[in-house]
Amino acid sequence: MNTRTRIISVALWCSTFVLAGRAVPLAHAAPAAAPEPRTLSSGDVELALPLGLQADAAFIPKDNPLSKAKIELGRMLYFDGRLSADGNVPCAGCHNPYHGYADPEAFSPGVGFKRGGRNSPTVTNRLFSAEQFWDGRAADLEAQAHGPVTNPVEMALPSHDVAVSRIATVKGYPPLFEKAFGDPKVTMARIAQAIASFERTVLSGDSAWDRWQAGDKQALSPQQIRGFDLFRGKATCETCHVSFNFSDEGYHNLGVGWDAATGTMKDKGRADVTKAARDEGAFKTPTLRDIVLSAPYMHDGSEATLEEVVQFYDRGGNPNPNLDPKIKPLGLSASEQADLVAFMQALTGRNTQPHPLASRDLPR
Ligand code: HEC
Ligand code: HEC
Repeated sequence: MNTRTRIISVALWCSTFVLAGRAVPLAHAAPAAAPEPRTLSSGDVELALPLGLQADAAFIPKDNPLSKAKIELGRMLYFDGRLSADGNVPCAGCHNPYHGYADPEAFSPGVGFKRGGRNSPTVTNRLFSAEQFWDGRAADLEAQAHGPVTNPVEMALPSHDVAVSRIATVKGYPPLFEKAFGDPKVTMARIAQAIASFERTVLSGDSAWDRWQAGDKQALSPQQIRGFDLFRGKATCETCHVSFNFSDEGYHNLGVGWDAATGTMKDKGRADVTKAARDEGAFKTPTLRDIVLSAPYMHDGSEATLEEVVQFYDRGGNPNPNLDPKIKPLGLSASEQADLVAFMQALTGRNTQPHPLASRDLPR
C-alpha cells in the first residue's frame, strides 16, 4: 500500500512548468519554505491538489468547467460497461485504478478480446495535459473520450447514437444529466464532457519525493536521492521528463518499435498526426508519477520492468534515422541504474480517486 498521508502544500523544484501543452520557463522557482494549500477553482468545484501538483498548470477547456454534478456523472460513466458492445468493457477495464489507472497487459483486451497495438497509458494527472493519446491526436480529454466507445478493438459500439440511446434508456441517467447540464438530454458530447471532468480529478501527488521536496529530509532514502541526482544530471532524464508532472508534453523518438532488420518503425506515432517524416516513431513523453503501478512500459508495452527501461536508455535507445538527439548511451554502472529505479519508486503517490465504482452503485 502507498502512504496516504494528506499534506497539502507547494513544491516547486524545477525551471519550467507546463501550461496547456507548452513548457514555459520560470524565471526562478524558489524551494517551498512555508507549505500552503493548493486548490484549483473551476465552476462550483474547489479541487484540493495533493502535495506537489500545481494548480496553475491545469488545462480545462473554457466550455467545460468542472462541476460537482458533472464529475459524479462522469465517474459513473467511466466505470459503466454499458458503454461497450458486450456490456463488459468500461473505460476502467483498460485504465484500472488498481493498476495505476493503466493495464498490466502490453495490449489490453477490448470487446471480444480484440487487441490494438498500443499500451494503455495512465489516466492519472491528465489534468495537466491538453493533447491526449501517445501521438497527441486528440486535442483534449473531451475529444479523446469519443474514441474508445466506437473503436472496434475497445468498446466496439457501432455508433455514438447507440451509446447515447444505451445511456438514455437507463432510467437513472437522465436525471443525472439534468443535474449536470440543466436538462435531461443525453448526447455524446455531454457523455464526453462528464467523463473528462471525472478524469481531471484523478490525481496523484504527495509521494515520498514530494514530501522530500517540501522539506521532509527523511522521506527519501540515500539511494533515492542519488537516483534523483542522476535523473537531473548524468542520465539526462529531466530534459524530457520535466517539471512536477515529469513530462514536457512533447513528442520524441527513442527508437521503441524500430525494426532494424527491415529498417522500419512498427508504429509511425506522431507522424500519423503531423504527416511529417521527421516525426516517425515519436511518441508523447508520459508522466512518471505512479510509474511502478503501470507496468509494462512504453507505447507498445515492450519493456516489462523499470530495470529494463533504464537498461534501454543506458544503451542509447534503438538507433534509427529519427532518434532524438538527446538519447545517447549513458554509461551508467549497475548501482547507478538501481539508484534511478529507486528514485522512480519514490514517485508513487496518494491517488485522489483510489477506488473503482461497483456495478451495483451505477444508475439503473
Ligand atoms: C480496450 C482498452 C481500452 C478501453 C476500453 C479504453 N481505453 Fe483509453 N486507451 C487505451 C489505449 C490502448 C490507449 C492509447 C491509444 C493511442 O495512444 O493511440 C488509450 C488512451 C487513452 C487516453 C490518453 C492518455 C494519454 O496520456 O494520452 C485517455 C485519457 C483514455 N484512454 C481514456 C479512456 C476513456 C475515458 C475510456 C472510456 C470512454 C477509455 N479510455 C477506454 C485503451 C483503452
Ligand atoms: C528525449 C526525451 C526523453 C528522455 C531524455 C528520457 N525519456 Fe523517458 N520517455 C520519453 C518518451 C517519448 C517516452 C515514450 C516512448 C515510447 O513509448 O516510444 C518515454 C517513456 C519512459 C518510461 C515509460 C513510461 C510509461 O508509462 O510507459 C519511463 C519509465 C521513462 N521514460 C523513464 C525515463 C528515464 C529514467 C530517463 C533517463 C534515463 C528517461 N526516461 C529519459 C522521453 C524521454
